[in-house]
Parts: sequence; C-alpha cells; structure tokens
Amino acid sequence: MRKVLALALLSLPLFAAGEKREKTQEQVKEQVKEQVQERVRTGVNEELMKKGYEVFKKHCQACHVEYASPEKMREIVAIIRSGGKPPIAAPPMNEVAARVKHFFPEEEDFIEFVVDYITEPSREKGLCKPKAFEVFGVMPPIGKSLSEEEKRAVAYWMYHRYQETWEEMMRHHRPQGKGKGPKWMRE
Ligand code: HEC
Repeated sequence: MRKVLALALLSLPLFAAGEKREKTQEQVKEQVKEQVQERVRTGVNEELMKKGYEVFKKHCQACHVEYASPEKMREIVAIIRSGGKPPIAAPPMNEVAARVKHFFPEEEDFIEFVVDYITEPSREKGLCKPKAFEVFGVMPPIGKSLSEEEKRAVAYWMYHRYQETWEEMMRHHRPQGKGKGPKWMRE
C-alpha cells in the first residue's frame, strides 16, 4: 500500500506537467480557431490581397519599403533631423497606411483617397507631414499607368496589410527615453 502511494506521489508531477502541456495545445487550437473566425468575420478577400501585393511589388516598392521597424524609423528620423539625405525615397508603406487611416478610418474612404491620390497627387491633397514633402517631394502620378482594378487592389491591400494605428506608431518611433520625439512626427 505504501509502495502504491509513493508511486502515485511520484507520478503526480509528471501527470500535472503532461496535463499542462495538453492544455497549452488546446489553447493554441482555440487561438487558431479564433483567428480563422476573425478572418471570416472581417471578410478579407485573399484573392484581392494577393493582387494588391503584386501591384505594390511592381509599382510602389521601388520607393516605399513595405515595412520599416521602429528602430529603422528612428534611424531615418535622426538622419533627416541632422540635415542628411535619408536612405529611402519615400515614407515606408506601414507609415503611409497608418497616416492615411488616421484621417480615413473607414475602408471605403481610405481606398477612395489612395486611388485618387496616386493618380493625381498634390501638395494640397497630401496628408503626409509638411516635413515629408520637404524631404521627399510630391509623389509622381504612378496611378496614371495602372488600371482602375490595380489601383483598388493595391489600396485594399494597404488597408488590410497594416494594423498599427498612427498613435501606436508614433509612440514606437519616439527616440528612446528622450521626450516625445520630433514635433513634426507627433501631430
Ligand atoms: C517614385 C517614387 C514613388 C513611387 C513609385 C510610389 N510613391 Fe507613393 N509616395 C512617394 C512620395 C515621395 C510620397 C510622399 C509625398 C506625398 O505624399 O506625395 C508618397 C506618398 C504616398 C501616399 C501618401 C499620400 C499623402 O500625402 O497623403 C500614398 C497613399 C502613396 N504614396 C501610395 C503609393 C502607392 C499605392 C504606390 C504604388 C502604386 C506608390 N505610392 C508609388 C513616392 C512614390
């Protein structure tokens, strides 16, 4: 009897550990299920996402990098602030998307703005910071050589590819431990 009890006690931690592992797996399964359901709910059109990404790679990527990390952005901002030439030709696409979404949170308005802007860009219409125009100049009318379908696809991709809000982004881009960062990136 004592032997059985000792055995039972010995195997207890093992059993508990096994149960824990199983639970985690269960949680992962649940998480994946939720993610899939979220996709279904938000109804992201994968076909259109793929097409939009193709347009981006072919017509936008030469100037707009797809994603610049907060570290990279801080680096670029520091170069610009010290009067140097930035290593990029235009604001990174994650920043552009967050910026436009800040003014046009609704998908339809966002797409409308992007489609129009890339076809007929101007300083007046532009939502980018005055400093961005100063540093990079106005974007050329790239959209003139794209079909309506291609323009909508790339705008759709921009809307759904990025989730970070402008406020979150500005918090991350702030020079570490130093105040609030440059004023022109905060507004
Ligand atoms: C030749 C370089 C170049 C290419 C190629 C380019 N852009 Fe730009 N884009 C810029 C520059 C520079 C800016 C910042 C100045 C401005 O807003 O006009 C910009 C800004 C933008 C903005 C923000 C507009 C604003 O000020 O509110 C959007 C949206 C945008 N680009 C979308 C695109 C898309 C989509 C493509 C591809 C179809 C593309 N761009 C291709 C240079 C480019």
